[in-house]
Amino acid sequence: MNRSPRRRVLAATLSTTAALVVAGGAVLLSAGNASAATTLGASAEASGRYFGTAVAAYKLSDSVYSTILDREFDMVTPENEMKWDATEPSQGSFSYTSADQIVSHAQAHNQRMRGHALAWHSQQPSWAQSLEGTAIRNAMINHITNVATHYKGKIYSWDVVNEAFADGSGGGRRDSNLQRSGNDWIEVAFKTARAADPAAKLCYNDYNTDGVNAKSTAVYNMVKDFKARGVPIDCVGFQSHINSGSPYTADYQSNLQRFADLGVDVQITELDIAGSGSAQATTYANVVKSCLAVTRCNGLTVWGIRDSDSWRASDTPLLFDGSGNKKAAYDSALAALNGGGTTTSPTTPTSPTSSPTSSPSTSPPPSGTAGCTATVSLNQWTGGFVATVKITAGSAKISGWTTGVTLPSGAAITNSWNATATGSSGAVSFTNVAYNGAVNAGASTEFGFQGTGAGPSATPTCTAR
Ligand code: XIL
Repeated sequence: MNRSPRRRVLAATLSTTAALVVAGGAVLLSAGNASAATTLGASAEASGRYFGTAVAAYKLSDSVYSTILDREFDMVTPENEMKWDATEPSQGSFSYTSADQIVSHAQAHNQRMRGHALAWHSQQPSWAQSLEGTAIRNAMINHITNVATHYKGKIYSWDVVNEAFADGSGGGRRDSNLQRSGNDWIEVAFKTARAADPAAKLCYNDYNTDGVNAKSTAVYNMVKDFKARGVPIDCVGFQSHINSGSPYTADYQSNLQRFADLGVDVQITELDIAGSGSAQATTYANVVKSCLAVTRCNGLTVWGIRDSDSWRASDTPLLFDGSGNKKAAYDSALAALNGGGTTTSPTTPTSPTSSPTSSPSTSPPPSGTAGCTATVSLNQWTGGFVATVKITAGSAKISGWTTGVTLPSGAAITNSWNATATGSSGAVSFTNVAYNGAVNAGASTEFGFQGTGAGPSATPTCTAR
Protein backbone atom coordinates (compact mmCIF):
# COMPACT_ATOMS: atom_id res chain seq x y z
CA MET A 1 0.00 0.00 0.00
CA ASN A 2 1.53 3.30 -1.00
CA ARG A 3 1.44 6.02 1.57
CA SER A 4 1.15 9.50 0.26
CA PRO A 5 4.29 11.68 0.53
CA ARG A 6 2.41 13.98 2.92
CA ARG A 7 1.67 11.17 5.33
CA ARG A 8 5.27 9.98 5.14
CA VAL A 9 6.51 13.43 6.11
CA LEU A 10 4.05 13.55 8.99
CA ALA A 11 5.17 10.15 10.30
CA ALA A 12 8.81 11.19 10.12
CA THR A 13 8.06 14.38 12.02
CA LEU A 14 6.23 12.50 14.76
CA SER A 15 9.01 10.00 15.30
CA THR A 16 11.62 12.78 15.35
CA THR A 17 9.69 14.65 17.99
CA ALA A 18 9.25 11.52 20.07
CA ALA A 19 12.93 10.65 19.85
CA LEU A 20 13.84 14.12 21.06
CA VAL A 21 11.56 13.65 24.07
CA VAL A 22 12.85 10.19 24.87
CA ALA A 23 16.49 11.19 24.60
CA GLY A 24 16.00 14.45 26.46
CA GLY A 25 16.91 16.57 23.46
CA ALA A 26 20.40 15.14 23.06
CA VAL A 27 19.83 13.90 19.56
CA LEU A 28 22.23 14.61 16.76
CA LEU A 29 20.45 14.76 13.43
CA SER A 30 22.72 13.98 10.52
CA ALA A 31 21.64 15.61 7.29
CA GLY A 32 21.71 14.17 3.79
CA ASN A 33 22.43 10.76 2.39
CA ALA A 34 25.26 9.42 4.49
CA SER A 35 25.70 6.31 2.39
CA ALA A 36 26.21 7.46 -1.21
CA ALA A 37 27.23 4.39 -3.20
CA THR A 38 30.46 4.36 -5.17
CA THR A 39 29.53 2.40 -8.29
CA LEU A 40 26.96 3.08 -10.98
CA GLY A 41 25.04 -0.12 -10.28
CA ALA A 42 24.89 0.29 -6.50
CA SER A 43 23.90 3.94 -6.81
CA ALA A 44 21.10 3.11 -9.23
CA GLU A 45 19.91 0.28 -6.97
CA ALA A 46 19.47 2.70 -4.10
CA SER A 47 16.44 4.06 -5.94
CA GLY A 48 15.31 0.64 -7.20
CA ARG A 49 16.84 1.13 -10.65
CA TYR A 50 19.63 -0.53 -12.60
CA PHE A 51 22.65 0.75 -14.49
CA GLY A 52 23.66 -1.45 -17.40
CA THR A 53 25.97 -1.69 -20.36
CA ALA A 54 26.14 -3.39 -23.73
CA VAL A 55 28.59 -6.30 -23.66
CA ALA A 56 30.43 -8.11 -26.44
CA ALA A 57 31.11 -11.79 -25.66
CA TYR A 58 34.56 -11.76 -27.21
CA LYS A 59 35.70 -9.01 -24.84
CA LEU A 60 34.87 -10.91 -21.63
CA SER A 61 38.41 -12.34 -21.58
CA ASP A 62 39.85 -8.78 -21.51
CA SER A 63 40.46 -8.25 -17.79
CA VAL A 64 40.34 -4.45 -17.93
CA TYR A 65 36.92 -4.74 -19.59
CA SER A 66 35.50 -7.43 -17.32
CA THR A 67 36.81 -5.77 -14.16
CA ILE A 68 34.91 -2.57 -14.97
CA LEU A 69 31.86 -4.54 -16.09
CA ASP A 70 31.62 -6.51 -12.86
CA ARG A 71 32.42 -3.60 -10.60
CA GLU A 72 30.09 -0.99 -12.09
CA PHE A 73 27.15 -2.60 -13.87
CA ASP A 74 24.16 -4.66 -12.73
CA MET A 75 22.39 -5.08 -16.09
CA VAL A 76 23.79 -6.45 -19.34
CA THR A 77 22.60 -6.19 -22.95
CA PRO A 78 24.37 -8.36 -25.55
CA GLU A 79 25.59 -5.83 -28.13
CA ASN A 80 25.10 -8.19 -31.10
CA GLU A 81 24.86 -11.76 -29.80
CA MET A 82 21.07 -12.07 -29.43
CA LYS A 83 20.24 -10.51 -32.78
CA TRP A 84 18.56 -12.55 -35.50
CA ASP A 85 21.70 -13.01 -37.63
CA ALA A 86 23.60 -14.32 -34.58
CA THR A 87 20.94 -16.63 -33.16
CA GLU A 88 19.45 -18.14 -36.33
CA PRO A 89 22.21 -18.04 -38.96
CA SER A 90 20.38 -20.54 -41.15
CA GLN A 91 16.63 -20.99 -41.06
CA GLY A 92 15.45 -23.22 -38.23
CA SER A 93 18.97 -23.77 -36.91
CA PHE A 94 19.67 -21.85 -33.72
CA SER A 95 23.03 -20.82 -32.33
CA TYR A 96 23.28 -19.52 -28.80
CA THR A 97 26.93 -20.02 -27.87
CA SER A 98 28.04 -16.37 -27.67
CA ALA A 99 24.82 -15.10 -26.13
CA ASP A 100 24.84 -17.94 -23.58
CA GLN A 101 28.38 -16.94 -22.63
CA ILE A 102 27.15 -13.44 -21.79
CA VAL A 103 24.15 -14.77 -19.85
CA SER A 104 26.39 -17.11 -17.81
CA HIS A 105 28.78 -14.28 -17.04
CA ALA A 106 25.90 -12.05 -15.96
CA GLN A 107 24.36 -14.73 -13.75
CA ALA A 108 27.70 -15.40 -12.09
CA HIS A 109 28.05 -11.71 -11.26
CA ASN A 110 24.50 -10.94 -10.11
CA GLN A 111 23.77 -8.94 -13.24
CA ARG A 112 20.39 -9.04 -14.93
CA MET A 113 19.86 -9.25 -18.69
CA ARG A 114 18.11 -7.10 -21.26
CA GLY A 115 17.43 -9.21 -24.34
CA HIS A 116 18.10 -7.40 -27.63
CA ALA A 117 16.41 -7.72 -30.14
CA LEU A 118 13.82 -10.24 -31.35
CA ALA A 119 12.39 -8.53 -34.48
CA TRP A 120 14.27 -5.83 -36.40
CA HIS A 121 14.74 -4.84 -40.03
CA SER A 122 18.52 -4.71 -39.52
CA GLN A 123 20.99 -7.51 -38.80
CA GLN A 124 18.66 -10.12 -40.22
CA PRO A 125 20.40 -13.25 -41.52
CA SER A 126 20.63 -13.23 -45.31
CA TRP A 127 18.03 -16.01 -45.66
CA ALA A 128 15.47 -13.84 -43.83
CA GLN A 129 16.35 -10.70 -45.78
CA SER A 130 15.09 -12.37 -48.93
CA LEU A 131 11.72 -13.44 -47.46
CA GLU A 132 8.46 -11.54 -47.95
CA GLY A 133 4.81 -11.86 -46.92
CA THR A 134 3.71 -14.99 -45.07
CA ALA A 135 7.21 -16.42 -45.26
CA ILE A 136 8.84 -13.58 -43.28
CA ARG A 137 5.84 -13.44 -40.91
CA ASN A 138 6.10 -17.14 -40.08
CA ALA A 139 9.89 -16.95 -39.85
CA MET A 140 9.57 -14.06 -37.38
CA ILE A 141 7.07 -15.95 -35.20
CA ASN A 142 9.25 -19.05 -35.18
CA HIS A 143 12.34 -16.99 -34.38
CA ILE A 144 10.73 -15.16 -31.47
CA THR A 145 9.26 -18.37 -30.06
CA ASN A 146 12.58 -20.20 -30.15
CA VAL A 147 14.81 -17.44 -28.82
CA ALA A 148 12.44 -16.22 -26.11
CA THR A 149 11.85 -19.84 -25.02
CA HIS A 150 15.58 -20.57 -24.90
CA TYR A 151 16.07 -17.61 -22.53
CA LYS A 152 12.78 -18.01 -20.67
CA GLY A 153 13.05 -16.79 -17.07
CA LYS A 154 16.51 -15.28 -17.63
CA ILE A 155 15.57 -11.96 -19.22
CA TYR A 156 14.44 -8.90 -17.26
CA SER A 157 13.19 -7.16 -20.38
CA TRP A 158 13.20 -7.98 -24.08
CA ASP A 159 13.45 -5.49 -26.91
CA VAL A 160 10.75 -7.36 -28.82
CA VAL A 161 10.63 -4.94 -31.74
CA ASN A 162 13.43 -2.53 -32.58
CA GLU A 163 13.33 0.60 -34.76
CA ALA A 164 10.04 0.04 -36.58
CA PHE A 165 9.23 3.72 -37.13
CA ALA A 166 10.54 6.04 -39.84
CA ASP A 167 12.59 9.17 -39.17
CA GLY A 168 11.38 12.58 -40.23
CA SER A 169 8.13 14.42 -39.94
CA GLY A 170 5.82 11.78 -41.42
CA GLY A 171 5.36 9.81 -38.24
CA GLY A 172 4.84 6.53 -40.08
CA ARG A 173 6.32 3.06 -40.08
CA ARG A 174 9.71 2.27 -41.60
CA ASP A 175 9.57 0.19 -44.75
CA SER A 176 10.96 -3.35 -44.33
CA ASN A 177 10.09 -6.93 -45.19
CA LEU A 178 8.53 -7.19 -41.70
CA GLN A 179 6.39 -4.09 -42.27
CA ARG A 180 5.34 -5.30 -45.72
CA SER A 181 4.05 -8.53 -44.11
CA GLY A 182 1.21 -6.44 -42.65
CA ASN A 183 0.83 -3.55 -40.20
CA ASP A 184 -0.02 -5.98 -37.39
CA TRP A 185 3.49 -7.48 -37.37
CA ILE A 186 4.46 -5.55 -34.23
CA GLU A 187 1.54 -6.75 -32.14
CA VAL A 188 2.01 -10.30 -33.41
CA ALA A 189 5.65 -10.08 -32.28
CA PHE A 190 4.61 -8.93 -28.79
CA LYS A 191 1.93 -11.62 -28.41
CA THR A 192 4.39 -14.27 -29.53
CA ALA A 193 7.02 -13.10 -27.04
CA ARG A 194 4.50 -13.02 -24.17
CA ALA A 195 3.43 -16.59 -24.90
CA ALA A 196 7.06 -17.78 -24.90
CA ASP A 197 8.27 -15.93 -21.77
CA PRO A 198 5.42 -14.48 -19.73
CA ALA A 199 7.79 -13.17 -17.06
CA ALA A 200 9.91 -10.87 -19.20
CA LYS A 201 8.96 -7.22 -19.58
CA LEU A 202 8.29 -6.67 -23.27
CA CYS A 203 9.66 -3.43 -24.74
CA TYR A 204 9.41 -1.48 -27.95
CA ASN A 205 12.83 0.18 -28.58
CA ASP A 206 13.81 3.02 -30.92
CA TYR A 207 16.14 5.99 -31.56
CA ASN A 208 15.42 9.65 -32.35
CA THR A 209 12.54 9.32 -29.92
CA ASP A 210 14.36 11.13 -27.09
CA GLY A 211 12.11 14.17 -27.08
CA VAL A 212 8.63 15.06 -28.24
CA ASN A 213 8.74 14.82 -32.03
CA ALA A 214 6.81 13.23 -34.91
CA LYS A 215 8.58 9.89 -34.52
CA SER A 216 8.18 9.61 -30.75
CA THR A 217 4.55 10.68 -31.06
CA ALA A 218 3.94 7.93 -33.61
CA VAL A 219 5.41 5.41 -31.15
CA TYR A 220 3.35 6.96 -28.35
CA ASN A 221 0.16 6.51 -30.36
CA MET A 222 1.01 2.87 -31.04
CA VAL A 223 1.63 2.18 -27.33
CA LYS A 224 -1.61 3.93 -26.41
CA ASP A 225 -3.48 1.81 -28.93
CA PHE A 226 -1.78 -1.39 -27.66
CA LYS A 227 -2.74 -0.59 -24.07
CA ALA A 228 -6.33 0.16 -25.11
CA ARG A 229 -6.65 -3.12 -27.01
CA GLY A 230 -4.77 -5.32 -24.52
CA VAL A 231 -1.78 -6.04 -26.76
CA PRO A 232 0.94 -7.08 -24.28
CA ILE A 233 3.52 -4.28 -23.97
CA ASP A 234 5.29 -3.41 -20.71
CA CYS A 235 7.98 -0.91 -21.58
CA VAL A 236 9.44 1.48 -24.12
CA GLY A 237 13.18 1.73 -24.68
CA PHE A 238 14.78 5.04 -25.62
CA GLN A 239 18.12 4.36 -27.27
CA SER A 240 19.45 7.88 -26.63
CA HIS A 241 22.39 7.94 -29.02
CA ILE A 242 22.98 11.63 -28.39
CA ASN A 243 25.04 13.87 -30.67
CA SER A 244 24.72 17.20 -32.47
CA GLY A 245 22.28 15.74 -34.99
CA SER A 246 20.19 14.13 -32.26
CA PRO A 247 20.72 16.32 -29.20
CA TYR A 248 19.47 16.10 -25.62
CA THR A 249 16.50 18.43 -25.48
CA ALA A 250 14.65 20.11 -22.63
CA ASP A 251 11.62 17.89 -23.20
CA TYR A 252 13.57 14.65 -22.63
CA GLN A 253 11.99 14.08 -19.22
CA SER A 254 8.47 15.10 -20.18
CA ASN A 255 8.68 12.74 -23.15
CA LEU A 256 9.61 9.84 -20.84
CA GLN A 257 6.80 10.89 -18.52
CA ARG A 258 4.11 10.94 -21.21
CA PHE A 259 4.97 7.35 -22.10
CA ALA A 260 5.03 6.33 -18.42
CA ASP A 261 1.60 7.90 -18.06
CA LEU A 262 0.30 5.38 -20.61
CA GLY A 263 1.03 2.64 -18.06
CA VAL A 264 4.36 1.32 -19.37
CA ASP A 265 7.84 1.38 -17.90
CA VAL A 266 10.47 3.42 -19.69
CA GLN A 267 14.15 2.54 -19.96
CA ILE A 268 17.20 4.29 -21.43
CA THR A 269 18.59 1.43 -23.48
CA GLU A 270 21.65 2.42 -25.54
CA LEU A 271 22.95 5.65 -24.06
CA ASP A 272 26.02 7.27 -25.57
CA ILE A 273 26.75 10.99 -25.80
CA ALA A 274 29.24 12.33 -28.33
CA GLY A 275 31.70 14.87 -26.97
CA SER A 276 34.14 15.32 -24.11
CA GLY A 277 34.83 17.18 -20.90
CA SER A 278 32.28 19.15 -18.99
CA ALA A 279 29.74 19.46 -21.82
CA GLN A 280 29.52 15.70 -22.14
CA ALA A 281 29.50 15.31 -18.35
CA THR A 282 26.59 17.73 -18.02
CA THR A 283 24.52 15.92 -20.62
CA TYR A 284 25.14 12.57 -18.90
CA ALA A 285 23.95 14.08 -15.61
CA ASN A 286 20.88 15.53 -17.33
CA VAL A 287 19.89 12.17 -18.81
CA VAL A 288 20.37 10.41 -15.46
CA LYS A 289 18.36 13.06 -13.60
CA SER A 290 15.58 12.84 -16.18
CA CYS A 291 15.28 9.10 -15.60
CA LEU A 292 15.35 9.48 -11.82
CA ALA A 293 12.58 12.07 -12.02
CA VAL A 294 10.26 9.59 -13.72
CA THR A 295 9.01 6.94 -11.29
CA ARG A 296 8.53 4.36 -14.05
CA CYS A 297 12.01 4.87 -15.54
CA ASN A 298 13.52 1.55 -14.41
CA GLY A 299 17.12 2.18 -15.34
CA LEU A 300 19.75 3.20 -17.85
CA THR A 301 22.10 1.24 -20.09
CA VAL A 302 25.17 2.73 -21.76
CA TRP A 303 26.11 1.28 -25.14
CA GLY A 304 29.56 -0.02 -24.21
CA ILE A 305 32.16 0.43 -21.49
CA ARG A 306 35.27 2.25 -22.82
CA ASP A 307 35.26 4.79 -25.65
CA SER A 308 37.23 2.25 -27.64
CA ASP A 309 34.39 -0.28 -27.22
CA SER A 310 31.83 2.08 -28.78
CA TRP A 311 30.22 1.49 -32.15
CA ARG A 312 30.97 5.21 -32.60
CA ALA A 313 34.45 5.23 -31.04
CA SER A 314 35.50 8.47 -32.74
CA ASP A 315 32.71 10.29 -30.84
CA THR A 316 34.31 9.24 -27.49
CA PRO A 317 30.73 8.88 -26.20
CA LEU A 318 31.13 6.60 -23.15
CA LEU A 319 32.02 6.83 -19.44
CA PHE A 320 35.53 5.28 -19.49
CA ASP A 321 38.46 6.20 -21.72
CA GLY A 322 40.28 3.68 -23.89
CA SER A 323 42.48 2.66 -20.97
CA GLY A 324 39.53 2.08 -18.67
CA ASN A 325 39.93 5.29 -16.64
CA LYS A 326 36.80 7.04 -15.36
CA LYS A 327 35.99 10.18 -17.35
CA ALA A 328 34.37 13.40 -16.10
CA ALA A 329 31.17 11.98 -17.58
CA TYR A 330 31.45 9.01 -15.20
CA ASP A 331 31.81 11.25 -12.15
CA SER A 332 28.83 13.37 -13.09
CA ALA A 333 26.62 10.37 -13.93
CA LEU A 334 27.50 8.83 -10.54
CA ALA A 335 26.88 12.10 -8.70
CA ALA A 336 23.52 12.46 -10.42
CA LEU A 337 22.58 8.90 -9.42
CA ASN A 338 23.51 9.59 -5.82
CA GLY A 339 21.77 12.92 -5.62
CA GLY A 340 18.56 12.14 -7.39
CA GLY A 341 15.67 9.72 -7.35
CA THR A 342 14.01 10.34 -4.07
CA THR A 343 14.89 13.51 -2.24
CA THR A 344 16.35 12.16 0.96
CA SER A 345 15.14 14.14 3.91
CA PRO A 346 17.43 14.53 6.89
CA THR A 347 17.97 11.19 8.58
CA THR A 348 15.47 10.71 11.36
CA PRO A 349 16.16 8.41 14.29
CA THR A 350 14.08 5.26 13.99
CA SER A 351 14.85 3.64 17.30
CA PRO A 352 12.12 1.28 18.52
CA THR A 353 11.61 3.47 21.59
CA SER A 354 10.61 6.39 19.41
CA SER A 355 6.96 5.41 19.09
CA PRO A 356 4.93 8.12 20.81
CA THR A 357 2.28 5.68 22.03
CA SER A 358 4.38 2.83 23.40
CA SER A 359 5.94 2.79 26.81
CA PRO A 360 9.76 2.52 26.79
CA SER A 361 10.25 -0.95 25.46
CA THR A 362 12.16 -2.81 22.82
CA SER A 363 9.19 -3.72 20.64
CA PRO A 364 10.07 -3.35 16.95
CA PRO A 365 8.25 -0.90 14.75
CA PRO A 366 5.15 -2.44 13.20
CA SER A 367 6.15 -4.41 10.12
CA GLY A 368 5.05 -2.93 6.83
CA THR A 369 5.03 0.73 7.94
CA ALA A 370 8.36 2.04 9.20
CA GLY A 371 10.31 -0.63 7.30
CA CYS A 372 8.66 -1.49 4.02
CA THR A 373 5.37 -2.20 2.35
CA ALA A 374 4.58 -4.56 -0.52
CA THR A 375 1.92 -4.55 -3.21
CA VAL A 376 1.24 -7.22 -5.79
CA SER A 377 -0.10 -6.95 -9.31
CA LEU A 378 -1.33 -10.11 -10.98
CA ASN A 379 -1.56 -11.20 -14.56
CA GLN A 380 -3.81 -14.27 -14.34
CA TRP A 381 -5.26 -16.70 -16.79
CA THR A 382 -6.99 -20.07 -16.39
CA GLY A 383 -4.42 -22.33 -14.77
CA GLY A 384 -1.61 -19.86 -14.16
CA PHE A 385 -0.41 -16.41 -13.16
CA VAL A 386 2.53 -14.03 -13.15
CA ALA A 387 2.84 -11.82 -10.07
CA THR A 388 4.89 -8.63 -9.90
CA VAL A 389 5.57 -7.46 -6.36
CA LYS A 390 6.63 -3.93 -5.57
CA ILE A 391 8.58 -3.37 -2.36
CA THR A 392 8.57 0.22 -1.11
CA ALA A 393 10.79 1.41 1.74
CA GLY A 394 9.17 3.48 4.46
CA SER A 395 10.61 6.63 5.99
CA ALA A 396 14.15 5.24 6.23
CA LYS A 397 16.53 3.50 3.84
CA ILE A 398 16.49 -0.29 4.21
CA SER A 399 19.29 -2.71 3.40
CA GLY A 400 17.22 -5.84 2.82
CA TRP A 401 13.64 -7.15 2.76
CA THR A 402 11.56 -10.28 3.06
CA THR A 403 7.99 -10.44 1.89
CA GLY A 404 5.39 -13.15 2.40
CA VAL A 405 2.42 -14.26 0.33
CA THR A 406 -0.12 -16.99 0.86
CA LEU A 407 -1.10 -19.02 -2.18
CA PRO A 408 -4.57 -20.53 -2.46
CA SER A 409 -4.73 -24.29 -2.24
CA GLY A 410 -3.67 -26.03 -5.42
CA ALA A 411 -1.42 -23.14 -6.50
CA ALA A 412 2.36 -23.56 -6.78
CA ILE A 413 5.26 -21.32 -7.74
CA THR A 414 7.28 -22.54 -10.71
CA ASN A 415 9.75 -19.72 -11.18
CA SER A 416 10.80 -16.43 -9.58
CA TRP A 417 13.17 -13.59 -10.47
CA ASN A 418 14.96 -10.82 -8.59
CA ALA A 419 14.26 -12.60 -5.27
CA THR A 420 15.02 -15.89 -3.52
CA ALA A 421 11.90 -17.93 -2.77
CA THR A 422 11.41 -20.12 0.30
CA GLY A 423 8.64 -22.66 -0.25
CA SER A 424 6.51 -23.09 -3.34
CA SER A 425 2.95 -23.54 -2.04
CA GLY A 426 0.88 -22.27 0.88
CA ALA A 427 2.87 -19.63 2.78
CA VAL A 428 5.83 -18.59 0.63
CA SER A 429 8.43 -15.96 1.42
CA PHE A 430 10.79 -14.04 -0.85
CA THR A 431 14.03 -12.37 0.19
CA ASN A 432 16.00 -9.82 -1.81
CA VAL A 433 19.00 -10.86 -3.89
CA ALA A 434 22.35 -9.07 -3.72
CA TYR A 435 21.54 -6.24 -6.09
CA ASN A 436 18.10 -5.15 -4.85
CA GLY A 437 18.25 -5.31 -1.05
CA ALA A 438 19.14 -1.65 -0.56
CA VAL A 439 16.16 0.63 -1.12
CA ASN A 440 16.17 4.34 -0.28
CA ALA A 441 13.47 5.92 1.87
CA GLY A 442 10.29 6.09 -0.17
CA ALA A 443 11.85 4.33 -3.18
CA SER A 444 10.78 0.98 -4.62
CA THR A 445 12.12 -2.17 -6.21
CA GLU A 446 10.30 -5.01 -7.95
CA PHE A 447 10.54 -8.78 -8.16
CA GLY A 448 8.27 -11.37 -9.64
CA PHE A 449 7.17 -14.96 -9.66
CA GLN A 450 5.17 -17.25 -11.84
CA GLY A 451 2.97 -20.15 -10.89
CA THR A 452 0.27 -22.64 -11.69
CA GLY A 453 -3.22 -22.31 -10.28
CA ALA A 454 -4.52 -19.01 -8.90
CA GLY A 455 -2.30 -16.21 -7.64
CA PRO A 456 -2.25 -14.72 -4.13
CA SER A 457 -5.16 -12.41 -3.35
CA ALA A 458 -4.08 -10.69 -0.10
CA THR A 459 -1.58 -7.85 0.23
CA PRO A 460 1.88 -9.36 0.91
CA THR A 461 3.61 -8.73 4.24
CA CYS A 462 6.96 -6.94 4.24
CA THR A 463 9.79 -7.03 6.77
CA ALA A 464 12.83 -4.81 6.35
CA ARG A 465 16.42 -5.21 7.52
C1 XIL B 1 25.15 -1.76 -33.11
C2 XIL B 1 26.35 -2.43 -32.50
O1 XIL B 1 26.83 -1.61 -31.47
C3 XIL B 1 27.42 -2.65 -33.53
O2 XIL B 1 28.47 -3.46 -32.98
C4 XIL B 1 26.84 -3.35 -34.75
O3 XIL B 1 27.83 -3.41 -35.75
C5 XIL B 1 25.64 -2.62 -35.27
O4 XIL B 1 24.68 -2.48 -34.23
N1 XIL B 1 20.64 0.52 -32.48
C6 XIL B 1 20.58 -0.73 -31.94
C7 XIL B 1 21.81 -1.50 -31.67
O5 XIL B 1 19.48 -1.16 -31.54
O6 XIL B 1 21.62 -2.87 -31.82
C8 XIL B 1 22.92 -1.04 -32.56
O7 XIL B 1 24.12 -1.72 -32.17
C9 XIL B 1 23.09 0.45 -32.48
C10 XIL B 1 21.85 1.16 -32.93
